[in-house]
Amino acid sequence: MRAVTWRAYGSPEVLTIRDVPVPEPRDGEVRIRTVATTAHIGDTRIRRADPFAARLAFGLLRPRRDLILGLELAGTVDAVGRGVSAFAPGDEVLAFCGFSRLGGNAEYRCLPAEGGNLPKHGAVVRKPASLSFAEAAALPTGALTALKNLQKARLGAGGSILINGASGSLGTYAIQLAKHLGAEVTAVCSARNRDLVAGLGADAVVDYEAQDFTRLGPRFDVVYDAVMQSSPRACRGLLRPGGVHVRNAGLARITNDDLTHIADLAAQGALRPVIDRVLPLDDVVEAHRYVETGRKRGHVVLTM
Ligand SMILES: NC(=O)c1ccc[n+]([C@@H]2O[C@H](COP(=O)([O-])OP(=O)(O)OC[C@H]3O[C@@H](n4cnc5c(N)ncnc54)[C@H](OP(=O)(O)O)[C@@H]3O)[C@@H](O)[C@H]2O)c1
Repeated sequence: MRAVTWRAYGSPEVLTIRDVPVPEPRDGEVRIRTVATTAHIGDTRIRRADPFAARLAFGLLRPRRDLILGLELAGTVDAVGRGVSAFAPGDEVLAFCGFSRLGGNAEYRCLPAEGGNLPKHGAVVRKPASLSFAEAAALPTGALTALKNLQKARLGAGGSILINGASGSLGTYAIQLAKHLGAEVTAVCSARNRDLVAGLGADAVVDYEAQDFTRLGPRFDVVYDAVMQSSPRACRGLLRPGGVHVRNAGLARITNDDLTHIADLAAQGALRPVIDRVLPLDDVVEAHRYVETGRKRGHVVLTM
């Protein structure tokens, strides 16, 4: 099967598509034939070993030989291992691939069918029928991270939140999740993304090039700096007494229930991935270059 691999940490050009053996599902695993996967910002960081400590997980001097890139995918179950009752061949699924082996950027990936340690080994849920494979592939990582941030901040109905970086992967999910919770959303983005974030439900939009959002006054229960471009200190004046500033750190562990929850929200129409570009797997280098511009809206998808 074709898979995205790399033999040295570095720029997007280190990526190559290699032929590797199709994996066999072990007991308790399903094998998924990938239809779509993503070029995720996390993949770009793992590719270049940023932060340096990533080498402890993925290979000290160079990426481990068995490593295939890709944090997430959507596809069809094509084989099941012994003891699997939750899925059958033909089921359409989406999956988070887990940090121990990654592997979403490949034609096939075996993953545990039930329970377990999602951050490490990954997890699989049924694809909501309302989502295309491209949309479903882009759901897990960003939506789970945005969800954990809003949970950490204890955002609830009637609360007000400012989301910086509202047009990116995390921001586009955070807007939708916050609106689903019944919160009032102020989205910070550039003028070109105003319509996008308003369309996702933002109640107010602030163009960060025209206005310094840190001077909006103490109006928010939560400031979520999804793009991590502001300091808690600079945002102090935005918070009501007891307000919280979050920025993708110190989050609670992501569970299988969280993955089921975001898939359910997508099935209900409360959460829809924003897709910027869909490229063939062959264009993975170009996809990484684009993700690293920091200008994408939502997600970049790779198709088989
Ligand atoms: N995505 C995830 O699942 C995830 C998980 C954990 C951690 N992270 C980290 O969280 C950060 C954000 O990730 P992401 O995937 O959401 O990023 P992203 O999708 O790459 O963010 C790109 C978006 O941010 C906007 N943007 C760029 N500079 C901005 C600024 N100064 N102020 C406001 N908006 C700005 C861009 O639009 P304009 O240029 O038009 O403004 C673009 O739409 C990254 O540092 C990433 O490593 C991401």
